[in-house]
Amino acid sequence: MTIYQATASAPILGKRDTKLILPTNSSLSVTLDQDHLRSTTTSRADPSFEKDRLWLNGQEDEIKEGGRLATCIKEMKSLRRQIEEKDPSLPKISSYAVHISSHNNFPTAAGLASSASGFAALVASLAALYQLPTDPSQLSLIARQGSGSACRSLFGGFVAWQMGERADGSDSYAVQIAPREHWPDIHALICVVSDDKKGTSSTSGMQRTVETSTLLQHRIKHVVPERMRMISEAIRARDFDTFARVTMQDSNQFHAVALDTEPPIFYMNDVSRAIIALIVEYNRIAVETGGKLKAAYTYDAGPNAVIYAPKENIKEIVELIVKYFPQAEPFKDPFGLFDDEDVQGNVVE
Ligand code: ADP
Ligand code: CO
Repeated sequence: MTIYQATASAPILGKRDTKLILPTNSSLSVTLDQDHLRSTTTSRADPSFEKDRLWLNGQEDEIKEGGRLATCIKEMKSLRRQIEEKDPSLPKISSYAVHISSHNNFPTAAGLASSASGFAALVASLAALYQLPTDPSQLSLIARQGSGSACRSLFGGFVAWQMGERADGSDSYAVQIAPREHWPDIHALICVVSDDKKGTSSTSGMQRTVETSTLLQHRIKHVVPERMRMISEAIRARDFDTFARVTMQDSNQFHAVALDTEPPIFYMNDVSRAIIALIVEYNRIAVETGGKLKAAYTYDAGPNAVIYAPKENIKEIVELIVKYFPQAEPFKDPFGLFDDEDVQGNVVE
């Protein structure tokens, strides 16, 4: 008997170095963890399986016909069928149903882009199962149909997702601007403000935005292309000041577009906004004393903050956050950033 099974793993938004868990509801927990936030997915094809099924963190998730999961699986099977037709010696596993099991080691559907890493891991695991030639750009085209941002998670480092111009999306794929090693000094803190499932899923929210927001049209035509150019250049030049400015401007406009949707979408909450205020103040003091920007916040479709900063500022930022936001759990420090200090934060029971 032959077992056809493969496992793949994808990180959220490429590689991250530092994980900081922040408030849950009105209290907070801060954890620094070397484990990257990732989805790990195992797929198995077997003639005894009756239909395609998927388990997410141990719970079965329905694969809706015509839905994004079904589309990705169908596309991957069809790529397998093509190589089976070219090479008749290959086992015809494209005709078997698949069972897929996936685990996220971070909150699902809480605005930390689980859909991105989830679909990237799904596509990578099916590509391994079907022994497809792994051209990440081609796979990113398929992952994109599951979750727009998934195509970026198939690469490491700094990745751009090209919007493309064709209506069928065939030129909308991801490209790597620079490998992670190009700019190792930039670090990310992920502040989990809430791990609740959000009210609006990113995909359905985006659909409503496309239908109703006039600001979105302005953003697509007149803002995003120039910012893409600027941020790519900033990454290539390791220019944190420009990188930070564009990152924060774009996060703000993304959330302005959410608010411009009918009915309006609020992804951020009061804690998210308080973190913005803290970073703004931190940068203001740095600039007023003759320096450059020291940190950048960005929020995806949810309340949780990602803070980018050069490594030398990370300790200071963690201290600020621990000082101003009560922690749900004692602060953990696997990096040894706080060697001889006692940074427990203000633990709320
Ligand atoms: P998020 O902000 O976490 O991306 P979304 O609402 O955009 O939230 O996407 C969440 C959905 O993505 C889940 O309900 C599930 O359908 C899908 N998803 C998340 N993780 C995985 C995974 N590991 N494997 C497959 N699908 C996943
Ligand atoms: Co998402």
